[in-house]
Amino acid sequence: MYDVLIIGSGAAGLSLALSLPSSCKIAILSKNVVTEGSTFYAQGGISAVLDESDSQASHIQDTLNAGAGLCKEDIVKFTVSKGKSSIQWLQDAGVPFTYNNDTKKLHLTREGGHSHRRVAHADDASGEAIEITLVERVRGRDNISLFENHIAIDLITTRKLRLKDNRCVGAYVLDRKQKSVNVFKAKFTVIATGGASKVYLYTSNPDGSSGDGIAMAWRAGCRVSNMEFMQFHPTCLYHPHAKSSLISEAVRGEGGRLLLPDGTRFMQNFDPRGELAPRDIVARAIDHEMKRLGIDNVLLDISYKSADFIIKHFPNIYKNCLKFGYDITKEPIPVVPAAHYTCGGVMVNIHGQTDIKNLYCIGEASFTGLHGANRMASNSLLECVVFGHASSKHISKRLGKDYPIPDIPQWDESRVTDSDECVVINHNWDEIRRFMWDYVGIVRTTKRLQRAQHRIQMLLQEIDEYYSNFKVTSDLIELRNLSIVARLIIESALLRQESRGLHYTLDYPKPDPKLASVDTILDPITL
Ligand code: FAD
Ligand code: SIN
Repeated sequence: MYDVLIIGSGAAGLSLALSLPSSCKIAILSKNVVTEGSTFYAQGGISAVLDESDSQASHIQDTLNAGAGLCKEDIVKFTVSKGKSSIQWLQDAGVPFTYNNDTKKLHLTREGGHSHRRVAHADDASGEAIEITLVERVRGRDNISLFENHIAIDLITTRKLRLKDNRCVGAYVLDRKQKSVNVFKAKFTVIATGGASKVYLYTSNPDGSSGDGIAMAWRAGCRVSNMEFMQFHPTCLYHPHAKSSLISEAVRGEGGRLLLPDGTRFMQNFDPRGELAPRDIVARAIDHEMKRLGIDNVLLDISYKSADFIIKHFPNIYKNCLKFGYDITKEPIPVVPAAHYTCGGVMVNIHGQTDIKNLYCIGEASFTGLHGANRMASNSLLECVVFGHASSKHISKRLGKDYPIPDIPQWDESRVTDSDECVVINHNWDEIRRFMWDYVGIVRTTKRLQRAQHRIQMLLQEIDEYYSNFKVTSDLIELRNLSIVARLIIESALLRQESRGLHYTLDYPKPDPKLASVDTILDPITL
């Protein structure tokens, strides 16, 4: 029995764990090794107002602009106001940020949508620096137990146990090594499972981004919001073997130019901010040019800067591109957009509380209202830390109260067998990711969305049947979650009959002023 069960060990889960009191008994689950998750792969950095020429008002305004009218202003203000202290907290934890040699202050880079330099970073591997540092801190805490290769299957709620109110009391968890399902009981459970970009064929995300937390919360009765706003990062390396290779927006922030194959720049034709327009605009412009010219990729060029400058700022991107035969100091590189970030998620309030008592959700899995219709670069890691701390504060105040845990039945495998047809799982994974890419991608139409809706309904039925008949494996758990998240994205996209931010449909190509502050809320009771 734990005080707090944290499902996920990325920036969000670790920030929470490290700020809870040391008297609190905590379990952290990671479905792979502890460091694996989007946080580890983050490149650009974390945004905060740190320069004298910058202001919170400007960070707030840039975030609201990028969010295309849908950000919740109180949440934006709250998050931005915590920027400086969040960076300080990471510095105190020992994160090796990059400093200016001359001023000895943090070096700040720039990314799309930001009108100032305000992105603190650790070279071009900011996420790795944050993740490794926080994991080290967690390993030094006696009150925290880390469970690697443990994948949560479903939340346990009093409603499922046929008791009165709906309160979360823990989760069923598959130990992938022992192949056994265990009950983790907890007073408070926190979903920190990251996003769902793996629902698309091409993505910058690691394999685990299958939307597990969003699907688990949905099944348990939580509302989910704004799932149509899936963000596509404009620049992933285009190469048959460069799976998930992101080329940071900071490359454009430091002067990188987007080019057509004949060497002409094109972003100015779409937005006066050019290459540094918010991501939705840049990704859509690239998609438009690729379709117009029938080309497989566009080019990103920073080679006109000195080799010293490039290698100093982007040592890892430089090395990674060399592995694929591209020298960014000498030539433009081929890039394409890929699914990157889930702006929607489990609806929470300013403390990270969901619709279910004692269940919280933080980080990319949550919908706080910070990102609106399009997240601004480097605001995500900030949200992870800010809401990790906010939920910690709220939970800490309630730890002293008594929350009796009822008897929980063990996982029942008496009516299922080992699967005899694992090919079904692989096939369905591929099918979902392919039609989501083709029908629910950067440019949508109602007809394409309806096609996707039809496909997902059939697949959901098939996967449900499979899940009822066979023993759970991590692939099956993820497929089941992925199919639910795909459905939530499709249903949300069909409901939003306008184009706004990341949701662009040819059938309603303009924003509808009447929908300017209307979130798409899906409720498991009514859908
Ligand atoms: P994650 O870091 O994704 O961690 C999820 C955790 O949940 C993992 O530990 C995983 O094992 C666990 N988990 C998931 N499902 C289960 C389950 N069923 N059971 C048990 N455990 C589970 N944002 C920025 O602000 N700045 C950047 O520079 C930046 N660069 C990025 C670059 C890349 C390539 C990518 C992919 C993303 C980037 N982002 C960036 C986005 C940002 O990294 C993520 O939004 C953020 O790290 C999410 O953190 P998280 O803690 O919510 O989830
Ligand atoms: C990047 O480095 O381009 C990613 C930044 C982000 O997703 O916030």
